[in-house]
Amino acid sequence: DKGPYPFYMLKEINEQPIVMRRLLAAYTKADGQVEMPAALLSALAAADRLYIVAAGTSYHAGLIGKPLFESLAYVPVEVHLASEFGYHLPLLSAHPLFIFLTQSGETADIREVLVKVKKMGAPTLTITNVVTSTLAREADHVLALHAGPEIAVASTKAYTAQVAVEALLAKALGDFKGTEAATKFDVTHWLSMAAAGQQTLIDQQARLHELATTLFAGQDRAFYIGRGSDHAVSLEAALKLKEISYVHAEGFAAGELKHGTIALIEPGTPTVAFVTDPLTAARTRSNAEEVAARGGHVAIIATSDLAEVGDDLVVPAIEPRLTPLVAIVAGQLLAYFTSLDRGYDVDRPRNLAKSVTVE
Ligand code: M6R
Repeated sequence: DKGPYPFYMLKEINEQPIVMRRLLAAYTKADGQVEMPAALLSALAAADRLYIVAAGTSYHAGLIGKPLFESLAYVPVEVHLASEFGYHLPLLSAHPLFIFLTQSGETADIREVLVKVKKMGAPTLTITNVVTSTLAREADHVLALHAGPEIAVASTKAYTAQVAVEALLAKALGDFKGTEAATKFDVTHWLSMAAAGQQTLIDQQARLHELATTLFAGQDRAFYIGRGSDHAVSLEAALKLKEISYVHAEGFAAGELKHGTIALIEPGTPTVAFVTDPLTAARTRSNAEEVAARGGHVAIIATSDLAEVGDDLVVPAIEPRLTPLVAIVAGQLLAYFTSLDRGYDVDRPRNLAKSVTVE
């Protein structure tokens, strides 16, 4: 039931703060410690490398997970597209553990990988929204996303739930291994801040609708740029826009534009820059200026600690590794309003199914 919402996608975007709180309730104890199954933590601690394998939006959530596991649990991580990994296996480490990120738990490209790596005897974990799904049943370990049913084809709350579960798991693994970085990482605090930050953006829907119309009306292509986790958010924001508004959008590492793609910038070309990381903010801003100098229509979305006069949208600043939980809400709403402005069926875009059960 959509309740008061015109589309499931808007309902699901609005549910994200609740999902963050639900995940904290599900995975943390009263004293703030993260609770994860002991067998899972032992398996993870025994692995010398984690391989996150996923598709589409879930792959983008995996990109955010990599620095979380690496910085909190000191374990190297590779993130792979399931459709590629299934047929072109890289040279694996001696003790790999596979993490399948999947909202539906039914994605055929992932199942192909699961069957292969199980034959090798490698341990497997499925993180999914559907705990009764095929990929949940067939993996050694399962973690639930607790996002509630996601009906809209465009994935929103499952993405932020995946990022949050990765943060919780990385923290639990770091604590299990006794890393100093995990001790300092107050995941309960940061996920609560993320929920509040998401709500701030949800409350600015009118502004985001205005920005979507100003940027994308009459345009058939767009760019999203950023560095580090802002790059991963750019990929996801671009996928959202492509999927439901049919605008040809590309997410780029901001520094890569000048290596070729900037040739595509024409007067009015919409380019959204995410500026949420203190380490690279100045660099991304100068990349955005290069676009503006060629006539591109640049919109800057910056966190409050890095915002400058003239920025188009300010999002609350949280721990930089978790900023994607907040920044992506802007990308989701920009895509939603663009699709709405064009009169499309937001929840059921053409040519797409909610779960992709063919390879
Ligand atoms: O159910 P999954 O998470 O395995 O699905 C993976 C992709 O098919 C999915 O994320 C797709 O990219 C979404 N429609 C994007 O919004």
